[in-house]
Amino acid sequence: MRGILLAGGSGTRLLPLTSVSSKQLLPVYDKPLVYYPLSVLMLAGVREILIISGDQHVDAFRMLFGNGSHLGLDLRYARQESPRGIAEALLIGRQFAGDEDVCLILGDNIFYGHGLPPVLREAVATVDGCTVFGYPVSDPRRYGVAVVDDAGLLVDIEEKPASPRSNLAVPGLYMYSNDVLAYPEKISPSPRGELEITDVNRLIIKEGRGRLVQLGRGTAWLDAGTHDSLLEAGQYVQILQKRQGMQIACLEETAFRMGYIGIAQFTRLAELLPSESTYGRYVRSLVHN
Ligand code: TTP
Repeated sequence: MRGILLAGGSGTRLLPLTSVSSKQLLPVYDKPLVYYPLSVLMLAGVREILIISGDQHVDAFRMLFGNGSHLGLDLRYARQESPRGIAEALLIGRQFAGDEDVCLILGDNIFYGHGLPPVLREAVATVDGCTVFGYPVSDPRRYGVAVVDDAGLLVDIEEKPASPRSNLAVPGLYMYSNDVLAYPEKISPSPRGELEITDVNRLIIKEGRGRLVQLGRGTAWLDAGTHDSLLEAGQYVQILQKRQGMQIACLEETAFRMGYIGIAQFTRLAELLPSESTYGRYVRSLVHN
């Protein structure tokens, strides 16, 4: 399985924060937003990852992560000329995917919680068609909403429905088997001019090849697309980290715990981080424990 991390978009709702910065490089408490979805891919066992961003920002991501080898990853970069829709990521990433399946994650989605890694790894191992996730929310009308039948099987996804048929929002994390990666070619842009990922997912679901995995109450899903949600995400991370003394989305730690790097490289990375930063001190403390 290969990963695609989509980190473009226009970030209109976050202006003027996004007038010169990429949304996904804005801080969520102590680290750039993109760290969080990248750590999710790493926890899913995905190490070959294409980061897609707009022309203006792709070099900043390259500066931040390089080729990823220091984290035991293989990172590549691609441009999306303009925000023509989330589904375009599959077309941009098709060559990169080769004959492998793909896990697509949006660069502004944060997932965290006990039990998430095994759920992700099981989904990676079993994808056939598309796998989407269902997350219970109090106001489903703001999201793409999963429609399930009596047996709990996914039968449709409705985008921002006035009368939602479930409380399960579909977050920005999707898995596709290799044979459906060209499906965005079968759809037309929506009235807002975008290739909609929901339209791609609906095609696959109509073929009876869509699977829904429900995320339990132990998992947090946050996005950071508005000023309030960005601040709330930062506060969430701050509170949990302070309380538990553990970092969320510490890439060096994740790489080490997942076995992508050994203790020697982990120690080297820790030494490169300044002890003046709490993040640096945290990584250093792990090495010395
Ligand atoms: P959105 O939140 O739908 O769009 P946006 O980030 O451009 O923000 P706004 O609505 O305020 O203008 O995008 C969800 C994620 O997908 C986000 O991480 C940006 C990314 N994205 C792309 O990279 N390319 C695209 O064409 C689109 C539509 C989104």
